[in-house]
Amino acid sequence: MAQSVALGHPSLPRYTNFHRKSMKFLIFLGTVRDSTPPNPPRLGLRVAKACVSQMHQGDISAVLIDPLDFDLGSIFKPHFSYARGKAPAQLQSLADKIAAADGYVMVSPEYNHSMSPALAHLLNHFGSSLFSYKPSAIVTYSAGQWGGVRAAVGMRSFLSELGCLPVSAMIHIPKAHEVLAEDGSFFASVDAERWTNYFARAFTQLTWWASAAQNQRNAIDPHKLVPAFKRDPSQRNSPSRNSK
Ligand SMILES: Cc1cc2nc3c(=O)[nH]c(=O)nc-3n(C[C@H](O)[C@H](O)[C@H](O)COP(=O)(O)O)c2cc1C
Repeated sequence: MAQSVALGHPSLPRYTNFHRKSMKFLIFLGTVRDSTPPNPPRLGLRVAKACVSQMHQGDISAVLIDPLDFDLGSIFKPHFSYARGKAPAQLQSLADKIAAADGYVMVSPEYNHSMSPALAHLLNHFGSSLFSYKPSAIVTYSAGQWGGVRAAVGMRSFLSELGCLPVSAMIHIPKAHEVLAEDGSFFASVDAERWTNYFARAFTQLTWWASAAQNQRNAIDPHKLVPAFKRDPSQRNSPSRNSK
């Protein structure tokens, strides 16, 4: 069994002081794959645990959202398709958490050069008004050498459409099973300080934007300025020649 070291180090840069105690982040895990091969299963759990640990070390509140905790059924019925107050308790509880969060970390494996279908499916259950006017950070990983960068490209469009704009710095972890132990700590064989600084760059951007967005949401309610489209997607269309 390879040795691992605890995450972070007291001498490493900390996240800056942007109201961090008053901000809340959700870390969405993008895997439900609990079988092998390929080995190991649920590699993403290590990555998500590393994200939680890094954020907690930066004194930031972060809660892990695991798609295995949600029974979404085989028929797709999003939260916004239920009458007010009628959504299943699990969906409602997550909707409330998404609405209350200041930003999101989206952790995805790369499956066939795309983002995790489990993550997309979970996120598709919620309207963009719950996510919008807040930032997100993209974290991808793979067992191979590219660290999920091809999945990350699609995630930028996906998250932008949800309204939680991704910050520019991303985290990609190639051969994640050789970087992170099961508890999310870095193996002794890797340079934990460099990895910690790599995570910190994305999470510092995330907290900076989250703080800026929180201030501005408190000053002006964006949902009053730009009402959410609730009827159908054509509400987004540009006016046609015949529409008055
Ligand atoms: C259906 C499927 C498709 C995959 N496609 C890719 C891929 O496109 N690129 C890649 O680097 N790894 C790919 N892999 C390997 C994954 O990086 C590896 O299995 C990883 O552990 C998946 O994360 P998970 O264990 O958290 O589900 C794929 C794995 C599966 C199961």
